[in-house]
Amino acid sequence: MTRLLKEISASDPLSIAEQKLIIDTAIKENKERPGAVMLVLNEVQGKIGHVSPPMQVYIAHKLNVPLGQVHGVVTFYSFFKTKPRGKHTIKFCLGTACYVAGVPQLIEKAKQMLDIDLGETTPDGEITLEECRCVGACSQAPVVVVDEEVQGKLKPNKFPQVLKKVQKPS
Ligand code: FES
Repeated sequence: MTRLLKEISASDPLSIAEQKLIIDTAIKENKERPGAVMLVLNEVQGKIGHVSPPMQVYIAHKLNVPLGQVHGVVTFYSFFKTKPRGKHTIKFCLGTACYVAGVPQLIEKAKQMLDIDLGETTPDGEITLEECRCVGACSQAPVVVVDEEVQGKLKPNKFPQVLKKVQKPS
């Protein structure tokens, strides 16, 4: 445990006093409650935005539960992220209608333009690319969700405009 804490990167929330305090408080407040693992993970995800692998080890250790239990919850629910997300999120609907209507080509375009993969964030911390399930706008396929806004009937040649809008200085 001590070895792990020495090895974590300087950008991990465990290395940042304010964020570590959030984790420790969540653990302290929920440790004795039933469903403590889920309660702590929810709190940490909500306040910090992700639960990195070192955070999972730390939480498991402090709650005195096997790491597999914490890791199992984090990987089972898509709500939990293991890496920090960017300021903006672009999600690609992988539902059948969108898939057939050309979402794979949109994803390719995005990956090419940003030079990152799905699930990754641009090095400047601005944009995260993610996949999502059907958002109920199948008649608008292919659909992407930019932050919370659904954009339909999107063709790869229009994707640069989507990006431009997101990247404009606010
Ligand atoms: S399949 Fe994409 S919105 Fe339904």
